[in-house]
Amino acid sequence: MVSALDWHRLLPLVFVGSLVELSGCARGKDPGAADSGRAAGVDSEAVARAWCPADLAEVDAWVAVTLDAMTTSEKVAQMSGLNGIANEYGRYDGVEDTRNQIPAFRMMDGPRGAHRASGPATAFPVGIARGATWSPLLEEQVATAIAREVKAVGVNVLLAPTINVLRHPRWGRSQETYGEDPHHLGVLGGAFVQGAQAHVLAQPKHFAVNSIEDTRFDVDVRIDDASLHEVYLPHFHDALIDAGAATVMAAYNHVNGPPAAESPQLLTDVLREQWAFPGVVVSDWIFATETTHGAAEAGLDIEMPVPKVYGDALEEALADGTVEPQLVDDAVRRILRTKACFGLELGEPAVQPELRLTDAHLDLAQQVAERSAVLLKNDDLLPILSGASVAVTGRLADVENIGDGGSSAVLPPDVVTVWEGLRDEADGRTVGQVAADDVTALAAADVVVVVVGLTEEDEGEGLIAAGDRTSLTLSDEDIATIQSVAAVQSDVVVVLMGGGAITVEAWLDDVEAVLMGWYPGMRGGTALARVLYGAVPPAGRLPLTVPVQESDLPDFDNVDLTVQYDGFHGYRHLERTGTAARFPFGFGLSTTTFEVGAPRLTAEPLSVSVSLVNTGVRSGYETIQVYGGPVEVEATRARRKLLGFQQVYLEPGEREEVTVALDALDLAVYESDGWNVRPGAYTLDVAVSAEAVLYSLPLEL
Ligand code: BGC
Repeated sequence: MVSALDWHRLLPLVFVGSLVELSGCARGKDPGAADSGRAAGVDSEAVARAWCPADLAEVDAWVAVTLDAMTTSEKVAQMSGLNGIANEYGRYDGVEDTRNQIPAFRMMDGPRGAHRASGPATAFPVGIARGATWSPLLEEQVATAIAREVKAVGVNVLLAPTINVLRHPRWGRSQETYGEDPHHLGVLGGAFVQGAQAHVLAQPKHFAVNSIEDTRFDVDVRIDDASLHEVYLPHFHDALIDAGAATVMAAYNHVNGPPAAESPQLLTDVLREQWAFPGVVVSDWIFATETTHGAAEAGLDIEMPVPKVYGDALEEALADGTVEPQLVDDAVRRILRTKACFGLELGEPAVQPELRLTDAHLDLAQQVAERSAVLLKNDDLLPILSGASVAVTGRLADVENIGDGGSSAVLPPDVVTVWEGLRDEADGRTVGQVAADDVTALAAADVVVVVVGLTEEDEGEGLIAAGDRTSLTLSDEDIATIQSVAAVQSDVVVVLMGGGAITVEAWLDDVEAVLMGWYPGMRGGTALARVLYGAVPPAGRLPLTVPVQESDLPDFDNVDLTVQYDGFHGYRHLERTGTAARFPFGFGLSTTTFEVGAPRLTAEPLSVSVSLVNTGVRSGYETIQVYGGPVEVEATRARRKLLGFQQVYLEPGEREEVTVALDALDLAVYESDGWNVRPGAYTLDVAVSAEAVLYSLPLEL
């Protein structure tokens, strides 16, 4: 076994029978360097310098002088929000200290757009839909757009992205996150942070192991160190350290005992000591904190939205000696450093309505919705050709269905429903809305589009919205609609809406095509129509596993107040139990065909390349995925996991060399002495879904 500090002794790597030098590791990092997050002896000043957009020495000089001049009350005031209720702009402001010239944090929710309390804003597709694009480039653009729209009302901290592992699709906030896989979450979450921080500070959330709504304030998630570090934390490292998020939100749930917002394990050991995160840790709202001492001792910097265990309680604890003044100084130092590094300004911010709802933002919302739709089944029905007569039916055909009514809710001035999109984009097709029991009209059409699925009544945030789902199936009403339409019409396409996996067993064989449309945002109807009509190719790939039935997944316990997690969920769980998914993680059909040539491994930087050709007659997107793991499987670890992916657009006949960048450190395991890359035999699978492996390559480490 090799410790993280000296794992580079393993180099050179040997793969596919040849000896190849690998100097350093992927993403250009020295394996022993602080920002790997997987090495002991982290250089916290080096991490802080890389993280701070300003000159850290100058910032720290100002911080030292300012901290010195502050009274205890002024320091404590920096450590909580001011208002339990958002102000007229929908913002939660912190304290602006004019005496010490310290600007305020001004926060707003926004995983899919500026929060509805701030007035009309662009509603983008939800996070899970954006996860289905597998496009960090698009995600960065979405984040930049959302950041501009929150900045329009003076916000300087965006409470997003949500990057919790989708452990089970009944989680009410499945729609808010990007999916079930930590690597994929880290790529998308990191892209969001970089895009958002062009204008404001980002706040990835909820740190950590937050994946149940109904018991979210109280549940204690018990988890072993290896699963925590290997499955539930890597994407936070990507977003906070690699992408440089300024702040992070601690979760409501407890982790191995204490609340996450008071967790020495998460906030002290992981965040500060192992990762050297220089930014600010903020509590989730109201119910995240329990004790003054616990929060201060663990390193919670700011309690939101109002002081409960901080404020007067913190001043008293300082006075009676139960909290060390040093802890408050450390927290305030981090707060001031973050404010100065990221250039926060004093004074009431300008309101700039022109930054919202621009044509560019609306076009982007539509483009992302187009790229997110996942074609799950297509028996030669799609695209619906020009000249066809199309009947549109189903409970959600003409419903403005853009997702959760909780903290991620957005208020767009209008929403294009699927029916409106199909009607307006008709382009030579005859399109009519038809009642689900109008047998004659349904039978007479060339194609029937049935729009069904979930709404904010079925899933969402706990307490303030619908909470966790009660089942993975469609409602009986929706199933009956599909079946009755299919009884009179042979060309049926089902458009599913929702924020997670929906099981399809009761009706899949009855229909010719299924398109997963998610909650596609305010231009969603236009986007889905363009996919159905073939104006743009279906491009999405599932960022989650759709099981045959719920019992194929690990239990979802949103009742008990203690739950046990391990490293198995989604595709990792199905692979262990030898169960096929109905639609595996990474799956999505195209309306063209691709040929993937034999892969080649490159050592420096570590990568796999394939030659990809579009062999069909339509354009399309393919997403090459590389999964890997040791040949010798351990009982407590998944056999393999996603290590990298690359999506490519090709015209008919076009060929492209596709290179998937990999990081050898992603094969490290977390043990009692830290991260280790174990020498030995590994397998890399080149695939187009977690279950569709095209080539396997041996890799010796
Ligand atoms: C949610 C957070 C949100 C916060 C502020 C909490 O209930 O869990 O995601 O950012 O409220 O609205």
